[in-house]
Amino acid sequence: MAKTYTHILSLAAILLASCAGIRTSSAQTIPSLKEIFKNDFLIGAAINTMQIEEKDSAANRLIEQQFNAVTPENIMKAQIIHPSWNTYNFELADKLVAFAARNNIKINAHTLIWHSQLPIFMRKMQNADSVKEYFQNHITTVAARYDGKVYSWDVVNEALNEDGSLRNSVFLQKLGPDYVVEAFRLAQKATPHSKLYYNDYNIEQPQKRAGAIALIKKIQAAGVRIDGVGIQGHWKYDKVPMADIEESIKEFSALGIEVMFTEVDLSVLPNPGDKQTADVSATSQSSNEMNPYTNGLPDSVAQKQASAYADLFNLFLKYKDKISRVTFWGVADGESWLNGWPIRGRTNYPLLFDRNFQPKPAFYEVIDQRKNDKD
Ligand code: XIL
Repeated sequence: MAKTYTHILSLAAILLASCAGIRTSSAQTIPSLKEIFKNDFLIGAAINTMQIEEKDSAANRLIEQQFNAVTPENIMKAQIIHPSWNTYNFELADKLVAFAARNNIKINAHTLIWHSQLPIFMRKMQNADSVKEYFQNHITTVAARYDGKVYSWDVVNEALNEDGSLRNSVFLQKLGPDYVVEAFRLAQKATPHSKLYYNDYNIEQPQKRAGAIALIKKIQAAGVRIDGVGIQGHWKYDKVPMADIEESIKEFSALGIEVMFTEVDLSVLPNPGDKQTADVSATSQSSNEMNPYTNGLPDSVAQKQASAYADLFNLFLKYKDKISRVTFWGVADGESWLNGWPIRGRTNYPLLFDRNFQPKPAFYEVIDQRKNDKD
């Protein structure tokens, strides 16, 4: 009996100690990314519906403490905000605006024109005039509603192929190659108080980068405003293309626009066919080999990921006068889209906070880069 009692007591002591541990290592006592980098660039995160509705308390705490910019992960995409010809669904975006205003967070609205996550009515559209009307209505209505309420817009997302040519989207097919310029022209009119950006993945790669530069120059030559370019930054932790990233910062900023890293996450899982892409339609099947860390991330991998993040932030700091924002695509590992893409049901660890919303080695490495930076 006495033995059982002692046993229960010691169990209680362990429990208490671990609770205290959680408290002392909680987000309240860790450094804040937005504070540490406040003179360098904005620090953002993509946030999901639960977080916008403030129903994910641990994540919400981190958002408020760590980030001064957010990008809605899905709720401002056409499929959700404009589900049918005459229906707009502004409820969640309005909540986002209120949440961000209350917490002094800038919103990068994402995204007006993208070939993916389009509403069904739009995907079925054959008639070029209807596509044109949709295009004008969509940009004008959505952008105008949030003028002055969002800091910036990803006006066009992922318009390019890997070789730098224009992607064969419904917009290219029905509106012709000037549609990107037209999207910026309409956005400029509808939202004079928001910054206007072009956003894409792999545009740090030489060929695609050249395509992006040509596109940006075309917008500028038309006398239309473009304020910046977003390099998404969905990279593999052991293959971050550092030299290409550095060259891209130089070349894009030479166009006189802001450079941003808008969707950063460093996957630790193998890619099917070992491809470097963020094409949302590129999905495959799961297997144990493709999902090796279901029981936790080995320390060695966590450390390697941390040093990849360190190198990346070191580079960002070197060019901090050219970089206006660095945004992670998610808050914590458990909610990252990379658990479901390009293979469903995997356990990935791409961000700075783990599944318990605790900072990972990568978080401390990122913080340390700023501390080591002289000015
Ligand atoms: C992703 C979201 O994270 C997922 O929740 C959704 O199912 C698909 O889209 N590039 C982009 C983002 O610009 O909008 C994508 O977001 C990821 C790739």
